[in-house]
Amino acid sequence: MDNVTRVIEEGRPEPERIGTTPAVQAEALVKHYRSRSGVIEAVRGVDLRVEAGEVFGFLGPNGAGKSTTVRMLTTLLSITSGTAHVAGVDVAREPDAARRRIGVALQEAGLDPRQTGRELLVLQGRLFAMSPREASARAEELLSLVELEEAADRRIKGYSGGMKRRLDLASALVHEPEVLFLDEPTTGLDPASRLTVWEEMRRINARGTTVFLTTQYLEEADQLCDRIAIIDDGRIVREGSPAQLKAELRERQALASDPTLDDVFLDATGRTRGRVAGDVQEVSA
Ligand SMILES: Nc1ncnc2c1ncn2[C@@H]1O[C@H](COP(=O)(O)OP(=O)(O)OP(=O)(O)O)[C@@H](O)[C@H]1O
Ligand SMILES: [Mg+2]
Repeated sequence: MDNVTRVIEEGRPEPERIGTTPAVQAEALVKHYRSRSGVIEAVRGVDLRVEAGEVFGFLGPNGAGKSTTVRMLTTLLSITSGTAHVAGVDVAREPDAARRRIGVALQEAGLDPRQTGRELLVLQGRLFAMSPREASARAEELLSLVELEEAADRRIKGYSGGMKRRLDLASALVHEPEVLFLDEPTTGLDPASRLTVWEEMRRINARGTTVFLTTQYLEEADQLCDRIAIIDDGRIVREGSPAQLKAELRERQALASDPTLDDVFLDATGRTRGRVAGDVQEVSA
């Protein structure tokens, strides 16, 4: 059975290339921003390894350093120190080669409202050196993948938030990247649109693309991710499969039943339910 058939039959791809080149590898990654009020240490020595074929979840509270890490891994931001490779390519040394292997949908989608969805995708294909014919065939394929065929020839300014997200996702896939980075792809979406995006992520992953996903929704991470890492204040504080992390907390706190990933997150980041609910009193873990 070939890989594609196996993936379709089993629904979820195995991270089968374990031991070979990881999809993402970061070592001692650091980012300092310089501002008037001094240096902000946004990322303070992050090590990450994501295997090819995985859906990897990157979680953390607001301001923890998720987007900063994603921007460094995707060549959009310089690295203060440490190294990062995507699909075996050093992102600082060979940014162009790295860019060809990755797709990125950022937290704020940068779409031109005057274009139509189809125009945007065709242009994107042309930027990746496709012929006009190839670019328009690829656009057609992607419009169908993200279920935007009917809106394809309307201007983006008339799209809903969910449609824009899906178009942005499609545009990150034009050149068939090996690794897809999604920074909060479902924030602000209604439950139905969120499910559509989940379906798309699963479909994209089943075709062999590694997915690196940041999200605020722990339920989403639990449903979609093979492994997750939680970052807090620029440092990784937990890493493992959702099941491993829950089991570890259950054992450590001698709980009678399995905790949720929310409980794991709150434990890892020193937040308590009271504080999250708006209680001003800080309680450390
Ligand atoms: N361009 C910048 N200049 C200065 N400081 C920045 C800049 N971008 C981010 N920061 C700071 O770096 C830290 C990490 O920010 P980052 O955007 O990576 O967090 P995040 O985990 O993505 O948060 P969110 O969940 O809100 O998206 C924060 O303290 C933030 O204020
Ligand atoms: Mg962010």
